[in-house]
Amino acid sequence: MEMRSLFEPRAIAVIGASANPEKIGYRIVENIVRSGYPGGVFPINPRGGEILGLRVCATLAEVEEQVDVAVIAIPAGRVLDAVEACGVKGVKNLVIITSGFSEVGNLETERQIVRAAREHGMRVLGPNIFGVYSAKSSLDATFGPGGITPGPVAIITQSGALGIAMIGKTATESVGLSALVSVGNKADIDEADLLEYLATDDRTRAILMYVEGVKHGDRLQRTLAEVTCRKPVVVIKSGRSKRGSMAAASHTGSLAGADEVFDSVMRQCGVLRAESIQEAFTWIRYLASTPLPPGDEAVIVTNGGGIGVMATDACEKHGVALYDDQAVLVETFSGVMPDFGSSKNPVDLTGQATAEDYARSLDAVLAEDRMHAAIALYCETALFDTEQFAGLLRKVYARYRRRKPIVFSLFGGERIEAVIRDLRGEGIPVFGDVYEAVSSLGALYRVRRRMRQRVEAQETVELPIAEIRRVLEAARADGRTFLLAPEAAQVAAYLGLDMPKSILAGNLDEAIRAAGEVGYPVAMKIVSKDIVHKSDAGGVALGLENEDEVIDAYQAILRSCRAHVPDAVVDGIEVVEMVCPGVETIVGARQDPSFGPVVMFGLGGIYVEVMKDVAFRAAPIGRSTAREMISDLRSYPLLLGVRGERRKDIDAIADVVVKLSHLIDRCRDIADIEVNPLIVYDHGQGTRTVDMRILTKQPKGVS
Ligand code: ACO
Repeated sequence: MEMRSLFEPRAIAVIGASANPEKIGYRIVENIVRSGYPGGVFPINPRGGEILGLRVCATLAEVEEQVDVAVIAIPAGRVLDAVEACGVKGVKNLVIITSGFSEVGNLETERQIVRAAREHGMRVLGPNIFGVYSAKSSLDATFGPGGITPGPVAIITQSGALGIAMIGKTATESVGLSALVSVGNKADIDEADLLEYLATDDRTRAILMYVEGVKHGDRLQRTLAEVTCRKPVVVIKSGRSKRGSMAAASHTGSLAGADEVFDSVMRQCGVLRAESIQEAFTWIRYLASTPLPPGDEAVIVTNGGGIGVMATDACEKHGVALYDDQAVLVETFSGVMPDFGSSKNPVDLTGQATAEDYARSLDAVLAEDRMHAAIALYCETALFDTEQFAGLLRKVYARYRRRKPIVFSLFGGERIEAVIRDLRGEGIPVFGDVYEAVSSLGALYRVRRRMRQRVEAQETVELPIAEIRRVLEAARADGRTFLLAPEAAQVAAYLGLDMPKSILAGNLDEAIRAAGEVGYPVAMKIVSKDIVHKSDAGGVALGLENEDEVIDAYQAILRSCRAHVPDAVVDGIEVVEMVCPGVETIVGARQDPSFGPVVMFGLGGIYVEVMKDVAFRAAPIGRSTAREMISDLRSYPLLLGVRGERRKDIDAIADVVVKLSHLIDRCRDIADIEVNPLIVYDHGQGTRTVDMRILTKQPKGVS
C-alpha cells in the first residue's frame, strides 16, 4: 500500500518549487505538469506567487488537500525541518532529491531524516535522487529531460545521472517505460520495496535494475526469487573491481560487496545479469515484447552458411537448443525452399534464394508446432529487393509476434543498415549482430526456465542447534573467537559429518597409545588456543607410519610451536586417522556484509586458489539449489567423472552444503565456517571432513 501511494498518489507537493527555470525545483514542477498528471499539484516556496499557472503555497500547512507524495528539492541543511512539516501534514512518501548526505559522509542527518519520517509513518525515497516516474499516474516527478514514452519496462536505478540518461536511451531504443525510480542512497526505500509493487503492476512486463551496492541483501534475494517467477529481471551491477567499489562508495555511499557473491546470488534468484548497459537494454526490450517460447527448440533460417555457423555457436553459448529431427526438417522445408538448399538446422537457403523463398521458409518454421522459436539470418545479396524484403519481415513478424519468439539478424551495407533502423524503430527485434540476436533469445530461454521452476520450498533440516550453541558459547566465554579442533569436531559430529577418528594426547605416551588405537598411518596436529594457523607454526605432521615416526613428530611439533609462539598454552596434540585420498573440495559458510548468511562450494587446491572457481548461494538452501550450485563450477565435469573416472558422490557434497547453510542461518553468531578439505569419494561412497574451522563473532561489548 505504501508503494502504491508513491506510484499512484492522489496529490503531490514540490517543496523547493522555483519560478527560476534553471533550478531543479522548476524542472520538477514543469515535468509533473507536462506529463499530464491528473491529481493535485502543489508547489511550495516561501515566496508564494505562481509557477506555470499553479498557485504557490508558502508552506505545506496551507495546502488543504491530502498530499500523498512530497518531492523535496531544497538544500541539505533545511531538509529535516521540511520532513517534520510533511509529517505534521500527514504526507505518506517523501522523494528527497537533495544530495549531501551519506554519500559525502553525512550519515547522521540522513539517519535523523529517516527517524523523523518513521515517527510520522512516512517512507523515504532517496536522498540523492532524480525522482520518480509512473506511467500509471501519468506522473513524471523527475528533473529529467521529459517526454518519457509509456510502455512495459520498469527501471530502478541507484545512479541518478545514469537514470536520467536512460530516459534518452529508452527513446532511441524505442523502449517504453511503466516506471522509472531513482533510489540513490537508499536510506529507507530500497529495491525490494519497489520490486514488490512492480511485480503486481500490470503495466510492467520486465524490470531493469542498475545496482551499486546492496544493503539488505537477504530481503532483496527473497523478493527477487519471487518476482522472477512472474517477470523477467535484468540487473547491471557496477563496482566489480576494487577501484570500482571504492568509486561506488563515494557515489551513493554503497558497499559494493564481493562481486562473486552478488553474481551467484543473482543466478540463484533467476535474475539475468548484463555485462553492459547496451546488453541490458537489448535484453529488456526483447523480453518485454516477446512471448515465451512454447518449447525448447529453435530453428535457424539463413541465406548464408557462415552466419548460420556463427549463430549455431552463439546458440550453444547462450543455452538455445536447436531442433534436430531430420525427417521433420526435410518434410517441413521440402516444398518451400530451393532444391539446392540444406534443410539441416541451420536451414541454409543459400545465396541464390529469393526473398519469397526466405519468407516461405520462415513461415514454415513458425507455423510448425514442433519448432518453438525462429532465428532468421540474412546476408545482403543482389537477389533480394531490400524494400520488398523489409515488407516481408514486417508481415511475418506481425503474424507470429504474439505466438512465438523470432529474432532477425541482417548483415550488409547502407541499405540494410537503414532497414535495421526502420524495423527497430517499429519495435521489431532486428539486430545487426548475430551474437546480439541469439543472446536476446538466450535471455528469453533463461526466463522461460526460471518461470517453470518454483521457488524452492524451504526444507526443514533438523540440527541440534542448542547443543551446537553451547559449544560456541563455551568458546566465547573463554574469550575466543575460534573453536579449537576438538570443539569443531564436536560441532561436526552434531552435524553428522564424517570426520576421521581423533584422540587428544596430553603427553608422548598418550600420543603413542592414541596412534595404536586410531590405527597407522596417522596425522598429528597441535591443539592450542594461541596457535590458530597450525601448519604455519609447524604444528602438523602427516602420514606417520609407526611409533618411531610418532615420537619424532611429537617432539618436532612441540619444538617448532614453542619457537613460533613461545608463550603458547598447549592443550595437547591431536592424533588423527589419515583419510583415504579422494577429490579435495572446500565447503564454507559466512556472514556476507550484503546478503547475510551465504554458503560456498569449490574444488580444493589450485581450483580455489588460482582459478577462484567457487560458487555461492544465499543461505539457507535446499538440496536442489545445492546441486545446482555445485554444477555452476567450471570444474564440475571433474565431479561427473572424466577420462574413465567414476562419478563422484555429488549428493553427499550437497548434504554437507545444505547442513552448513542451515547452521550459518540459524547461528548468526558464527562468522565463518570452513570444511577444508572435504574429501569426496565415488558415487554412493560419501565424503569425509578432514578439517573444520569455525570462527565466531566477537562477544557483545568486546571490540
Ligand atoms: N520550503 C520551500 N522552499 C524552500 C525552502 C523551504 N524550506 N527553502 C528554500 N526554498 C526555496 C528557495 O527559496 C528556492 O526558491 P527560489 O528559486 O524561488 O529562490 C528553492 O527552494 C530552491 O532552493 P535553493 O536554495 O535555490 O537551492 P538550489 O535549487 O540551488 O538547490 C538542490 C537545491 C537542487 C536540492 C541542491 O541542494 C542539491 O542537492 N542538488 C543536487 C541534486 C542532485 O544531483 N541529486 C542527485 C541525483 S541526480 C544526479 O545524480 C544527476
